[in-house]
Amino acid sequence: MSTTAPDHDPLDLEAVDAIELWVGNALQAAHFYRTGWGFDIVAYAGPETGVRDKVSYVLQQGKLRLVVTSSLREGTEIARHVARHGDGARDIALRVADAEAAFKEAVRRGAVPMRGPWDEKDDHGIVRRATIGAYGETVHTFVERSDYSGEFAPGYEARTTVPDPLPPVGLLDFDHSVANVELNRMNFWVDFYEKVLGFHLIQGFTDEDISTEYSALMSKVVSDGVGRIKFPINEPAPGKKRSQVDEYLDFYNGPGLQHIAIATDDIVSSVQALEARGLEFMRVPDTYYEDLRDRFEDLDLDVDVLERYGILADRDDEGYLLQIFSRMNQDRPTVFFELIERHGSRGFGNGNFKALFVALEREQERRGNL
Ligand code: FE2
Repeated sequence: MSTTAPDHDPLDLEAVDAIELWVGNALQAAHFYRTGWGFDIVAYAGPETGVRDKVSYVLQQGKLRLVVTSSLREGTEIARHVARHGDGARDIALRVADAEAAFKEAVRRGAVPMRGPWDEKDDHGIVRRATIGAYGETVHTFVERSDYSGEFAPGYEARTTVPDPLPPVGLLDFDHSVANVELNRMNFWVDFYEKVLGFHLIQGFTDEDISTEYSALMSKVVSDGVGRIKFPINEPAPGKKRSQVDEYLDFYNGPGLQHIAIATDDIVSSVQALEARGLEFMRVPDTYYEDLRDRFEDLDLDVDVLERYGILADRDDEGYLLQIFSRMNQDRPTVFFELIERHGSRGFGNGNFKALFVALEREQERRGNL
């Protein structure tokens, strides 16, 4: 807690500190994110570290941090969350200079207080946290860790795993995290991020932009002032059949985090490494690459390589980007990852949305959910 008045808005957020997933089996989820996605397991909390009712593994790669947590007992909040939503994101934690000041200001601006502020202490110092509610049962915890020198937080012990024998994946940082919310709720949540966290609307797509023969969605993107944190928010739009957002809302039982986009500076190497680790990605129809050759004719881009790995490309006034979408990270058709390599473009690949939705609908069809 600072004793002097802050010289800046306490809601000038520093970064996404970590995304915590509540899962049915943290041991196996940690193994999946380590072996499949190339994260290192760097810290652990559980009965051995004095935590009685749950276990957590902290996974790190570049600046990316995931926490996977599962309940050891029935009837806990985590167990109930997993029963209702399946494995999913509970907490998109946001690093701040002063968690108490950020929390108080967010609540003053209309956020729902969930917990805190509270301190966790050990020999390495103090981590201070405070939690507000967001869409569905998702929360944002403000995390202040400037007075902490340990690996992650009190209650955790550092873990060093044996060196990973598989090729490194090269994931660098969070790029954006996407929410799916119910019909007619997108603007409510855009207002929430603008009003409470001081974010700005940076892009909006209508169902005209993002529609196929069968289904559509609307999307708006909010970002903090400097663009370090970007949250696109999707809602379904009426179509002939159910959209991917409808399918998500059905299986997640409400709004929640849909995908985490991760920055890489070499998407081809990342995809090669991930495929060697057994992961699979969404494929768009082959005709996509014929169009791409025309759209990128003037750029020195090896479209054959992109086609081989199923990587998508999009461009705008500022530059271009390469991206690819993983298959689901769990049984339910809910949470997945995106890889993104940016070359000037600050977009989200809206030029690809249509091709991608055709691919997503093909998968939905196979699940009998279209
Ligand atoms: Fe995305």
